[in-house]
Amino acid sequence: MKIFFLDQSGKPGGAELCLIDIAKPYQDNCLVGLFADGSFKNLLEENQIPVEILTNNQIQVRKESNLAQGLGSITQLLPLIQKVAKIARNYDLIYANTQKALVVGALASFISRRPLVYHLHDILSPAHFSKTNRMIAVNLANKFASLIIANSLASKDAFIAAGGNPKLTEVVYNGFDSQLYQIDPFETNTLRDNLEITDKFVVGHFSRLSPWKGQHILIEALVKSPPQVIILLVGDALFGEKDYVDKLHQQVAKLGLENRVKFLGFRDDIPQLMAACNLIAHTSTAPEPFGRVIVEAMLSAKPVIAAKAGGAVELIEPGIDGFLVTPGEPEELAQVITSCVENPDTTNQLAISAKQNASKRFDVSIINQQIAKLLQQFSSN
Ligand code: UDP
Ligand code: GLC
Repeated sequence: MKIFFLDQSGKPGGAELCLIDIAKPYQDNCLVGLFADGSFKNLLEENQIPVEILTNNQIQVRKESNLAQGLGSITQLLPLIQKVAKIARNYDLIYANTQKALVVGALASFISRRPLVYHLHDILSPAHFSKTNRMIAVNLANKFASLIIANSLASKDAFIAAGGNPKLTEVVYNGFDSQLYQIDPFETNTLRDNLEITDKFVVGHFSRLSPWKGQHILIEALVKSPPQVIILLVGDALFGEKDYVDKLHQQVAKLGLENRVKFLGFRDDIPQLMAACNLIAHTSTAPEPFGRVIVEAMLSAKPVIAAKAGGAVELIEPGIDGFLVTPGEPEELAQVITSCVENPDTTNQLAISAKQNASKRFDVSIINQQIAKLLQQFSSN
């Protein structure tokens, strides 16, 4: 089967990293079309996945756009839609991986008469998207998509609550290669030495720096955590959230935590860094659609504390393979961190169960089989 994948981002967010795993089995028969240049293109090339940048014009529509702005940007997209429709004629299927890809893919699928699959990586709720954006996404998906793959039950439920067609929607979780998270302890010790964290209790936070990812909540919790606790913030502002980055640095300075918070920026050695942590925290203040970092922490056999909302609730069974805390509550987070520092044996036992459970539930080869089965109906062979 020949698949034309579409993604709006030039940078590798979670939806893009997930797309690499989905496109890989089709690498001899697919093309990934991007609406922006950037390091995501390099990652696809490293994975031998054919990729083309389809436009150099920035697409103006934002998560909070109103109707006039939304419709205005559709007009602006016409040349791109025509280009996508032309390329799509050489493929069996258009697979839209992001919301702007859905807008372009929907109209291109109509023009080219190719079926459309929409991979929904978002929770289409007021906390994340304007009414206009929700309306555009739901209507286009209902009218043009033959299948909607939601990354969690939470994303599926929000889509249906926003008017999405339940009959079109299937849940498929992100898949992971658990082998990547087996790190040599010698390598981990060297990394801890290099980062000067050898004798610390290291809480890692792995995420782009963005207000709803809640790095500020973890920094606030640090004040109430035991003195040997330090934080590694891994990630950068991927989508223009520079003000938030400045605020985080100011917060650290104001609280006098400069020696206990390290900003590592965007990294591509996530399994190695996770192995160097004692605990991993996920602190999103709005419901997380899926939460790749939570599964990655589990596969790294690290105890994980996640914000109890959205997809996170489907990933962790509290007290069995992780901890869930109320989103946006630094006091509660500090209490759980403290309890993990004080009870290493029970916490590590839980982390071992997490690794076992996550390796089974999110095995990339099983997830890819689920997707292949769903896509089979679109094969022309
Ligand atoms: N990530 C990364 N480098 C970083 C920070 C994060 O490669 O410096 C990865 C992380 O390992 C995860 C993805 O980015 O696979 C983020 O996905 P997630 O689903 O957690 O959140 P998103 O940013 O997509 O909302
Ligand atoms: C999106 C979501 C994130 C999810 C990822 C992969 O980026 O924000 O929660 O894990 O897609 O599906």
